[in-house]
Amino acid sequence: MPDTNANGTENGTIRFLLDDTVHEVANVAPTTTVLNYLRDVLQRTGSKEGCAEGDCGACTVVVADLDGQQVRFRSMNSCIQFLPTLNGKALYTVESLKKLGRNGLHPVQQAMVDCHGSQCGFCTPGFVMSLFALYRNNAEPNRAEIDDALSGNLCRCTGYRPIISAAATMYDYGRDLLDEQELTRRLEDIRPGVSLELSDGDNSGLQAAGCPDSTAGGRFHAPGSLSELAGLMIRHPEATILAGGTDVGLWVTKAYRELPVIIYLGRVAELDYINETGDHLEIGAATSLTDAFAAMEKHYPELYEIMRRFGSPPIRNAATLCGNIANGSPIGDTMPALISLGADLVLRCGSTTRRLPLDEFYLDYRKTALQPSEFVQAVRIPLPQGSGRHFRSYKIAKRYDQDISSVCGAYWVQVEADAVAEARICYGGMAAVPQRAGRCEAALRGRPWNETTVETAVEALSEDYQPLTDMRASAAYRRRVAGNLLKRFYLETTGVEAGIWAR
Ligand SMILES: Cc1cc2nc3c(=O)[nH]c(=O)nc-3n(C[C@H](O)[C@H](O)[C@H](O)COP(=O)(O)OP(=O)(O)OC[C@H]3O[C@@H](n4cnc5c(N)ncnc54)[C@H](O)[C@@H]3O)c2cc1C
Ligand code: FES
Ligand code: FES
Repeated sequence: MPDTNANGTENGTIRFLLDDTVHEVANVAPTTTVLNYLRDVLQRTGSKEGCAEGDCGACTVVVADLDGQQVRFRSMNSCIQFLPTLNGKALYTVESLKKLGRNGLHPVQQAMVDCHGSQCGFCTPGFVMSLFALYRNNAEPNRAEIDDALSGNLCRCTGYRPIISAAATMYDYGRDLLDEQELTRRLEDIRPGVSLELSDGDNSGLQAAGCPDSTAGGRFHAPGSLSELAGLMIRHPEATILAGGTDVGLWVTKAYRELPVIIYLGRVAELDYINETGDHLEIGAATSLTDAFAAMEKHYPELYEIMRRFGSPPIRNAATLCGNIANGSPIGDTMPALISLGADLVLRCGSTTRRLPLDEFYLDYRKTALQPSEFVQAVRIPLPQGSGRHFRSYKIAKRYDQDISSVCGAYWVQVEADAVAEARICYGGMAAVPQRAGRCEAALRGRPWNETTVETAVEALSEDYQPLTDMRASAAYRRRVAGNLLKRFYLETTGVEAGIWAR
């Protein structure tokens, strides 16, 4: 058990497993990225920096932690993960793999060599680590699962076919030497018992090594319980909440912002949960998108494509659903679907909680209803009930994988006796916030569920939104595509032949 100081917090030291060794770091700027630490301090230069924003995958590493008694292996973008988030976990980099191979190279690496999966090699460590995560988590992936596993990695010269072949054949090289039981034991040994608190210290070790983040100061709190988190938020209303860091990380690596006080949610076990009550799915604020989406897909398989197209596995492994909601981007991909399903939020301030429908949460561009010291504790999603309900959500982006939406639409209607009894339609990318289409909904309600009604509802959309032209899409394109998605929803859910709108 790590040492603790007088106020019950760990002694400002981050501990994680790196290969077989417990690695300890003190006096580190809390916003030091895992990638900079690996490259500048440990001289582990296998992990590369391409974009420094989670987009290219050159920096991919695998992080293992305990989910109850089970080890889970997750690919992550080390360029946007802050080092203190590794506390109590195990880190695998491309350098780790050779030690896990039975005959020199790891099966993943040998398959890459044999399939000629590398040319210039800049992207290769990242691909290898994404494949290593796949190798550990899925013994028999199909082609779609391989494509998904690699969707966060860009290669500019080899082309993807040889890499996909390596993914398909890496299992032929047998099991690697990683002993999961031993890893579980070692992770239990370093499992943090209490909260972690770091101040910027003198950063001397990092400055000497020329680590670029080493001058950034700040305090990092990783509370170990919900009540401690709530207390910290009361004491530090100005703090930046850090969940998965897939938005916050870029504030540091791209916007060079300093974050004087960070409060990290990743150690609050009471927030890492998925509960199914009679009529709701409740998802806690520290639950990753990977886990949240798996639970949501069981009830809403219609969401498969939009979930699959959200970032990439390393992004979904780190990011949280509540982080997407709280970040409040007008083009966030989950909010239209959640709003149209009628989701609400559990908000907490101190020991007080309140419920708020998600469609009342967004007040203006990046402005939410959160009060000082208040945070999102959970999101509650109604489960499907009864018949006659139709639901879809569609994402329009320039690229299928790993791209930001131009428009994202979500559609929920209740049809009774061939007429629309209730409708909730919501778009992202059409206004300053994810916003319901009130006039469009009114044009549907009480009318027959047919093409004429849908035509009228499409026209009403132009009164609901005055979209912008920006680098992703023109206003005219957004208007056109928003209407077409509503038509697509109608066609898909009624089985009516496409082509009726060709007139
Ligand atoms: C490469 C890349 C691809 C991406 N792709 C997509 C995509 O396809 N679709 C999409 O919608 N987004 C995408 N994103 C954006 C991002 O991944 C999501 O918004 C993600 O859900 C944020 O969650 P997080 O846990 O990482 O949040 P963080 O970065 O930790 O936090 C985000 C914001 O929310 C606040 N916050 C977090 N949790 C809480 C809480 N419980 N209570 C109050 N405030 C809180 C933070 O203070 C911060 O302001 C992408 C990002 C990257 C880097
Ligand atoms: S450097 Fe591009 S994803 Fe990290
Ligand atoms: S091998 Fe050159 S970028 Fe992939």
